[in-house]
Amino acid sequence: MNKKINPSDKFIIALDGMDRNSVLKLIEKIPDLIWVKVGLELFVSEGPDILFLLRDQGKKIFLDLKFHDIPTTVSKACFFAAQTGAEFISLHACAGEKALKMANDSAREGAAKVNLPAPTLLGITVLTSWTQESFSKDLLVSQSINERVNHLASLAYTSGIGGCVCSPKEVQFLREIHPEPFELVTPGIRPLGSSLDDQARVSDVSKALEMGASKLVIGRAITNSNDPGTIFKSFCKKVVK
Ligand code: C5P
Repeated sequence: MNKKINPSDKFIIALDGMDRNSVLKLIEKIPDLIWVKVGLELFVSEGPDILFLLRDQGKKIFLDLKFHDIPTTVSKACFFAAQTGAEFISLHACAGEKALKMANDSAREGAAKVNLPAPTLLGITVLTSWTQESFSKDLLVSQSINERVNHLASLAYTSGIGGCVCSPKEVQFLREIHPEPFELVTPGIRPLGSSLDDQARVSDVSKALEMGASKLVIGRAITNSNDPGTIFKSFCKKVVK
């Protein structure tokens, strides 16, 4: 049976570099928008109220605070984050199996406490801004980025969390190992020929979708545009139904 895909559901707009008012203006310009991502910039500047505001606007939220700490701290952060109604919450997979398992249990408990469905936790693998060269030089890691991503995605999978964040370049091999419903969420999306900004391992929308990404996180390609509504529609058209 073919699942009916709503193209808008495939895209998560990263609300970086904005304040409350510009967020509201952006949302108004993209009526079909379902998912938004609140990352460190917006969360630290506006505080948790921004999450309730976005929920009131009917948006689904990816709370991308990339938790990384000892297991107790990560899991307590997930307990409270789950109470905000965020449906995706990120944490670094390299926090380790114990932290991931505890976080998953705590997120479920936190959501249940306020009668919300449990959120999906996403393990960050290797940030899309790392190149192989900087990764080896800065971190003294001898593994290739692909090996590292593969390992961390498996850790996320065996820990029982719902998915991971990886670059579009890694989606294809991860999808072969971890079929749906394991979420493969990919930032690092750039229209062909556009500026990379601080991203290194990028791909365009069609390629990332073709490789098997569950959802695409798109920030500056939309938020820096003069006509975000039209760009969003053009991305949606690339989703093969
Ligand atoms: O503007 P751009 O499309 O590059 O935004 C990408 C977003 O995805 C940013 O909010 C960034 O924090 C986030 N992200 C990322 N790489 C990851 C995880 C999240 O770029 N591995």
